[in-house]
Formats: sequence, structure tokens, C-alpha cells
Amino acid sequence: MRYTSSKSSSLTGTVDVPGDKSMSHRSIMFGLLAAGTTTVKGLLTGEDVMCTADAARALGASVTEKEDGTWVIESKGLKHLTEPDRVLDMGNSGTSTRLLMGLVAGYDFTCTFTGDHSLIKRPMARISDPLTAMGAKFITRTGGRLPLSVKGSAALNPISYELPVASAQVKSAILLAGLNAEGNTSVIETKPTRDHTENMLRHFGAVVDVETLDNNAQKITVHGKPDLKGCDIVIPADPSSAAFPVVAAILTEGSDIRIENVGMNERRAGVFTTLIEMGADITIENARDMAGEPVADLHVKYNGPLSGINVPAERVPSMIDEFPILSVAAACAKGTTTMTDLAELRVKESDRLLMVAEGLKKCGVELEMAEDSLTVHGTGNAPKGTNDADEIETALDHRIAMSFLVLGLATQNPVTIDDGSPIATSFPSFIPLMRALGAKIDTV
Ligand code: S3P
Repeated sequence: MRYTSSKSSSLTGTVDVPGDKSMSHRSIMFGLLAAGTTTVKGLLTGEDVMCTADAARALGASVTEKEDGTWVIESKGLKHLTEPDRVLDMGNSGTSTRLLMGLVAGYDFTCTFTGDHSLIKRPMARISDPLTAMGAKFITRTGGRLPLSVKGSAALNPISYELPVASAQVKSAILLAGLNAEGNTSVIETKPTRDHTENMLRHFGAVVDVETLDNNAQKITVHGKPDLKGCDIVIPADPSSAAFPVVAAILTEGSDIRIENVGMNERRAGVFTTLIEMGADITIENARDMAGEPVADLHVKYNGPLSGINVPAERVPSMIDEFPILSVAAACAKGTTTMTDLAELRVKESDRLLMVAEGLKKCGVELEMAEDSLTVHGTGNAPKGTNDADEIETALDHRIAMSFLVLGLATQNPVTIDDGSPIATSFPSFIPLMRALGAKIDTV
């Protein structure tokens, strides 16, 4: 599914971006662990979340969509999960795999996970190591990769674990396993990562304590064997998805767009702070609370070329998925943008540092890539774009695909990507939504 995007005149209109992916996965998983009925409004129906829904069905829940778009999860709850009678194919979804590995670790049954060509390359030892310390057993492919099998244990030991990498997936996997351990399970994080697991688990009735330690690290403790009850969830629009039309409007002369109900959790919204520091005209309107999460409407207007900046390293976890699209913004900015502490980008759906660097170079952008950093030199003029015979390799990575399609709206020549199909994992309405705003994106 090749796509080309080309220089577009002003983007205008108001759009709804789909629900937050992290919260969508968790709403289904926690609905599976809770007794009774959970309803979810605003669930993202992308392929990744549908993999989680399939797994929840295999583990004993009923997961259905009502005519009005509300999703309903019905389950007997924490003590009553059933052993899947099939291999759980997690497609492209790291979040499904890693959180579910923790979720199933506390059951006396076996679960086998596999995934697509991207997912089977991604590291899973960061999950299986702490879960092994809790008493689960794993058989993995060499290097701790998928396919892998978990033989859970109904007698998990609670642990206290300091995260070796800033990862909400690792934190969440351990906390989910801790739900089935006797006593308290703690995770210590020195860099604050997204806290949807902590917040949402409380909503389902779990006790989760958060303590700030002397070195400013946080210790998150979940109490084992809680009485989780089904509840009603409302999911805001995904800030990581909103970032694509936001940057598209920032780069396209004359644009004026509005995106409603965007999740503004401070552990997620770092990209908007960064773009504003670069000179973007983003007004955060109508800031309010929606079912316990901060949300706002974003009003974005074209404001001339951005200026390059140094992105503070401590902000990285709050915008970990936004570096591909930020790099595109940096490529069109005037001056140098430095992005550091990016080692984790190498183990996302693709090696994002490499894919961004190679793609931008193909489009005529000057940059330097190191093991964990990227420096982009913008001239303030539109980069060249791809040549007729050339295309950007997207390596089964939805965010690489969307980022380069956004770049093509601003470059001198169009930008062609080799495969837009992975966009369906997180943002199935991306192409029609961008076209409705006025973006020129064609299949080729
Ligand atoms: C996610 C956490 C992040 C992020 C991913 C979703 C989550 O991964 O990149 O898209 O929902 O917990 P890491 O925990 O590996 O940083």
C-alpha cells in the first residue's frame, strides 16, 4: 500500500482523533480482570487494540461493540481466567504482548504469544526477567524474543523492582502480575513514565500507592488479590495520534485546525510543550477533566517556520512515541534541533532512530545520528522530498509511515512511502481525516 503526499494548501477544519491507544488496551485488560460489566466509550478500534480484545476473549471475557460504539467487556473476574486454547497472535502490538505477559503470569496455565515480523524482533527479556523472579516460567526464542510461552504460577512472589529502562510497559507488566501475588508488589521508576495503569487500576478498585523517594524516584505499589469490579470508562483522544495533524498544520502555510478532547496527561503531552517552545501557535483551549484524565481542545495555526531547539532529556518519556513526527518538524525548522537520550527508540516497532535518519536523509535533510541521539539541521526552507524512483522505508512502523506522509505536505517534491498499511494499527482514520483537512495524500 504505497502512498504519496504532496505540498498542500492550508489545512482547515475541526477533527476528532481516535481514542488513546494505551488506555484502550488497559480498559480491555482491566475489564477482563474485573468481575461484572465494564463499558468503554471512545475505544480505539485499531488493529493493536483488537489484538488485545481477541486475547481477552481467549482468556475468558466477552468483548463486544454496541451499536452506539460503546464497547462492553463482561468477565467473571480476577480468579476466573481460562487457559487460551490457541496461540495469541499479538500482530504488531508490543503493549498487548508485554502487559498480557504480566497479566497471565499469576495463573497456573500456559500461554503462547507470537506476532508479526516487527514484533518478533523486539526485546521481551525486560518483561520475562522480573516475572521469572516472581515465579513465572518462560520459554522464548533466542535473545528473549517471540514466539514465547509463559507457564504462570498461582503462587507468585511479590517483588520490589527498580526499572532498568524508563518503560511504562515493563512497569505495567509487573504491577499486573502483582495483582495475583500475595502481598505488595512495587516498581521503582527514576524517570516518570505514563501512569495510565496506576490511575485506571484504582478506578477498578485496586489499591495502588505512589511514594516519592529521597532521590525523587517514585515507588509504585500494588496490593495483591484485590476485588476488582467492572466500571465505566471514557477514553480521550490519543495525544500521540493528535501530534500528526498538529504538526501537519504547523508546517502547512495558512492552516487553522482544531482537535477536540485530546488527552493532556503531563506524562504524555511533552510534544506539545516542545512544539510551542519551537514557536508553534498551539492554543490549549477548554482544559478540563474527562473521567479522571485531563483533556483539552487544541487550536493550531500556521505561524511561519519553527526554530530549532535542544529537547530536554528529562522530557523524553513524556513524548517517547513522538520523536519521528518531531524530527519531521525539526527538518522544516530554522536551526538545529538536538534530541538526546533516545536509546529506547531503537526497540520500538522499528529502529526509529535509524528509520527517521535514513528517511530524512533521502529527503535532503542534513543530520547526525549517534547511538542514542539525533541532531537535525533545518534551514527554514522546505526540504526536497523523495525522488520519483525513491520511497521511504517504513519497516512495519505506523509512526514512521504517518510522519513521512506529514513531511510530504511541506516538501518541494512529494514524499512516497513504501507501505501505509501499518497505520491501521493505531490510527485507522488517519488518511481520510488528513484529506478532510485538505491534505493531498494519494495511493500510488
Ligand atoms: C506504552 C508505553 C511506551 C510506548 C508505547 C505504549 C504503553 O512503551 O512507546 O507505544 O501503553 O505502556 P515503553 O514502555 O516500552 O516505553
